[in-house]
Amino acid sequence: MASELKRAFLQLDNTLSDSQHLWLPRPFTTDALPWHHTHPHLAAALLALSDDAVAQLHNSPQLHLDWFREREPQLCAALHAFAPQPAVAVRPLALDQFDSLHIPGRKWQQVVAFAAALPQHPYPYVDWCAGKGHLSRIVQRHLQQPVHCMEWDSSLVEIGRALAQRRGCDIHYHHQDVLQALPAACADPDTVHIGLHACGDLHQQLLRHVAAGGARAVAISPCCYHKVASDLYVPLSSAAQASRLRLDRPALHLAVQETVTARRAERPLRELERWWRLSFDALQRELCDTDTYLHVPSCKRELLRADFPAFCRWAARCKQIELPVTIDYDKYLQRGREKHRQIVRLELLRQLFTRPLELWLVLDYALYLEQHGYRVDVAEFCERNVSPRNILIQGRRD
Ligand SMILES: C[S@@+](CC[C@H](N)C(=O)[O-])C[C@H]1O[C@@H](n2cnc3c(N)ncnc32)[C@H](O)[C@@H]1O
Repeated sequence: MASELKRAFLQLDNTLSDSQHLWLPRPFTTDALPWHHTHPHLAAALLALSDDAVAQLHNSPQLHLDWFREREPQLCAALHAFAPQPAVAVRPLALDQFDSLHIPGRKWQQVVAFAAALPQHPYPYVDWCAGKGHLSRIVQRHLQQPVHCMEWDSSLVEIGRALAQRRGCDIHYHHQDVLQALPAACADPDTVHIGLHACGDLHQQLLRHVAAGGARAVAISPCCYHKVASDLYVPLSSAAQASRLRLDRPALHLAVQETVTARRAERPLRELERWWRLSFDALQRELCDTDTYLHVPSCKRELLRADFPAFCRWAARCKQIELPVTIDYDKYLQRGREKHRQIVRLELLRQLFTRPLELWLVLDYALYLEQHGYRVDVAEFCERNVSPRNILIQGRRD
């Protein structure tokens, strides 16, 4: 019989596959979104939103969901049928000031919540992509097992090592690229592997290692699903391998695209950049006589503190486009503003799929572990405003 997680995956997979036309095409790349024909009422309602309403929906996941629930109740129910519950803290942690040394506030909350949700195992722990080893130190003191930290940035290894020594912790730092063969102590099957916010390929490597080597238990909180070497997502579980979905990097990026924790101070600059990019796109479409969006690489912030003509000169150089001597920049800024106005509204629909897409990936990982004999649990280890990447996947072999 299919497990609960498998049933959740199949249901979500069906919904996401059937609704691809709603979330795969990106509004800034095309004027002709396929769902404008299938859902004209939705397009009209979104485009009619006031600036204030748009800001509210972008800033509040709850209001956003309520707005769509009113208009697409069945779709919303299917997308959110699988909702991981808050992780139960296994133990209260006795923490002191030393534990939080060198850790910014939000990171500290994440580390503490993650550590509190880890059950006791009588085996050494292996912390993947450990950074300075903040999580390792708390885990070591509370679970009273040796911890092996793997981290490839030698300066973080040095700082971590010094902090662990000052604390007298039984922690062993390995200056290690986790994509290479692991040190013997970390490859031993009698270990528990943990990973807090190791990106794309790194957390997948952790899962593959665990599945192949049969570690006793595993606990990961994945992030940055789009940071992978291959252009198309390679599913791990057989259920996801059988899916109709083919996720390219922009689709994977959608899984992490919420604005929940984007720093407020950074938002105006980000919006300015989007406006200028769209304005430059309007210019290049006319100059190159094309209907195709032209991707321009990311730029330095200083460029955004200059002016639009300077931005255009830079973008044109990047794409080897010759600019005429006189350009009516205001005309393109106006077009860009109009396009930007539409896009921030139309993107509200894609955002409805952000969390379900992330949960599709999470369930792929969870099913992969189940396939390899683990009993798996998926939960939220912290609030989403502490970190939007708040999923904790835990597996243990009986
Ligand atoms: C987002 S940080 C997470 C750090 C820590 N787990 C935490 O939550 O504070 C990711 C860490 O992975 C490390 N890293 C990146 N690629 C790596 C690799 N191939 N092998 C080992 N560590 C790597 C980075 O240097 C960075 O410290």
